[in-house]
Amino acid sequence: MKRKKIIIGNWKMNKTIQETQKFFETINSFLAKNKNEDYLLGIAPSYLSLQVAKNLSKEVLIAAQNCHYEENGAFTGEVSVTMLQEIGIHYCIIGHSERRSYYQETSESCNLKIKKLFEKKMIPIYCVGETLQQYEQGMTKETIYSQLEIGLQSIPKEDVEKMIFAYEPVWSIGTGKNASKEIAEDICAFIRLMIENLYDQETAKKVLIQYGGSVKPSNIAEYLNQSNIDGALVGGASLKEESFKEMISELF
Ligand code: PGA
Repeated sequence: MKRKKIIIGNWKMNKTIQETQKFFETINSFLAKNKNEDYLLGIAPSYLSLQVAKNLSKEVLIAAQNCHYEENGAFTGEVSVTMLQEIGIHYCIIGHSERRSYYQETSESCNLKIKKLFEKKMIPIYCVGETLQQYEQGMTKETIYSQLEIGLQSIPKEDVEKMIFAYEPVWSIGTGKNASKEIAEDICAFIRLMIENLYDQETAKKVLIQYGGSVKPSNIAEYLNQSNIDGALVGGASLKEESFKEMISELF
């Protein structure tokens, strides 16, 4: 089975509603001329821009950047999966390293969110990755194994096979220090192997695994050409229409 290639832009806390509109107008007219069934494109805008992005987007899947694991309740400032579902959102990033480091997100809370998303038939994009300190101490694989084992606890294989994973070494995010294609391929292959160990080979072959961390037009092709890397989760370089177009052109 051939896996689809996938590029998702994570806008973080960038772009107003108006800027989101402008981006989608440009990208829609670009995609109208460049079609191919073999890839998935996505954008994860801020909560406020989700609805306008969803309404304007034709070919691009729209993902939230986070969600809460409870159905509703006294959680000031939070957004539930049902609220996302109501506006037609089917994907959500979980466990981004910025959420893990600034908002005390843990693999345990990620696990609750992943369960909630599947309960509502949504697809999690689960981010894993080691910090610089863990990298320097040679603890990359240990760290990622634990993030996978805890994050996927009690998630059945029928759900896991639909998941998207993102390997994002924390030391490469927004730093311009992208991991080499060899490192990225090695860790993405490791993630696939761990899914095989936790589930089975069939499931491991189905999951999509992206690399993320300082991906840009000049280096994205290196990653897309690796056998265990199915795509890229891109922060900074997904904000400009021109550089997003350049990156997705690698898929045509
Ligand atoms: P970056 O961010 O491409 O700006 O390094 C990647 C991410 O955080 O997903």
